[in-house]
Amino acid sequence: MKFIRSEIIGHGHYAPAKVLTNDDMAKIVETSDEWITTRTGIKTRHIVENELNSDLSFRAAQMALQTAGITAEDVDLVVLATVTPDNTTPATAIKVATMLGTRPGTPALDVSAACSGFVYALTVADNMIRLGQVKTAVVIGSETLSKITDWTDRNTCVLFGDGAGAVVLRAREGNGDAKDTGILSTKLYSDGSHYDTLRTTGGVSSTQTAGFITMDGKEVFKYAINSLTQAAEEAMKLADINIEEIDWLLPHQANIRIIEGVGKKMNLPDEKIIANLAHHGNTSAASIPLALSEKMSEGSVKKGDIVVLTAMGAGFTWGGAVVRI
Ligand code: UT7
Repeated sequence: MKFIRSEIIGHGHYAPAKVLTNDDMAKIVETSDEWITTRTGIKTRHIVENELNSDLSFRAAQMALQTAGITAEDVDLVVLATVTPDNTTPATAIKVATMLGTRPGTPALDVSAACSGFVYALTVADNMIRLGQVKTAVVIGSETLSKITDWTDRNTCVLFGDGAGAVVLRAREGNGDAKDTGILSTKLYSDGSHYDTLRTTGGVSSTQTAGFITMDGKEVFKYAINSLTQAAEEAMKLADINIEEIDWLLPHQANIRIIEGVGKKMNLPDEKIIANLAHHGNTSAASIPLALSEKMSEGSVKKGDIVVLTAMGAGFTWGGAVVRI
């Protein structure tokens, strides 16, 4: 029986032009380059000025279509992971699909799973491809977190940035084993007992406002290393991939100390761990596809490489995926 895999055939990323350095942040709140660098590893973040989430998504998706060598006419599905949509409804994915020029009637949806959003969106698209419902999907992670950042709260405002990343997935026949190309496994989790630990202060149903991000950073930190490790290891087990076979670990980009903690727990050398948060900060659902596309564009992540994605964020949600590029 033939086995369907979702292969990553294109990748794209985009970050708005305006950059805020840690010194710029020190003019906004009481902080310092030294504190932000040592506690988080972040040096700069990109911030939108006159662009919407749909604009960032469009740029990343357009690059992904170009690198895939296909047009929007070939796309059967658009999935956008975000917590910062243009409007509460309709889904921003629908606007992006139209901006890209997909065929009329092409399904498009947003996925809300905070920093795990891209792994969730990838899982949705992968399963629709493997069921044979669609052949080609654009999966985007895009955020304008600066719009829900409390710029008076030094505990959070130094952490976040805006940006987008995207991949194009296409159905490909495989053997159903670890030698296949494409997404080899996905694994998702959530635990609502931590609902209040990291959230916005508002929402449509509760306050009729978007609210601002508020977080008990220490509490999130406590869970982050374990859940990122658990998701990565479980996805590896499902894919039948062992630690020596991994070329890259790509964790959600929230804090370099968390990333290093996961690397240590998994016994992975630093050279195999992707980290770009020094330039982008935490871009929530955009963080993984943005970093993946940057590394693929540089040529460091290349055809045949095994990449383990792992993410954790508000909810809590967490999840992992193993991909052979
Ligand atoms: O994206 C979803 C996942 N999110 C995360 O993974 C975030 C996880 N948490 C973290 O990354 C870290 O907890 C933070 C970076 C948010 C904070 O680092 P920390 O080492 O846990 O610092 P802390 O919250 O314990 O704060 C230490 C001190 C406090 O001062 P006191 O009470 O010890 O006098 C804070 O008030 O640092 C102070 N502080 C700051 N100082 C300068 C907090 N923020 C700042 C700041 N600049 N921006």
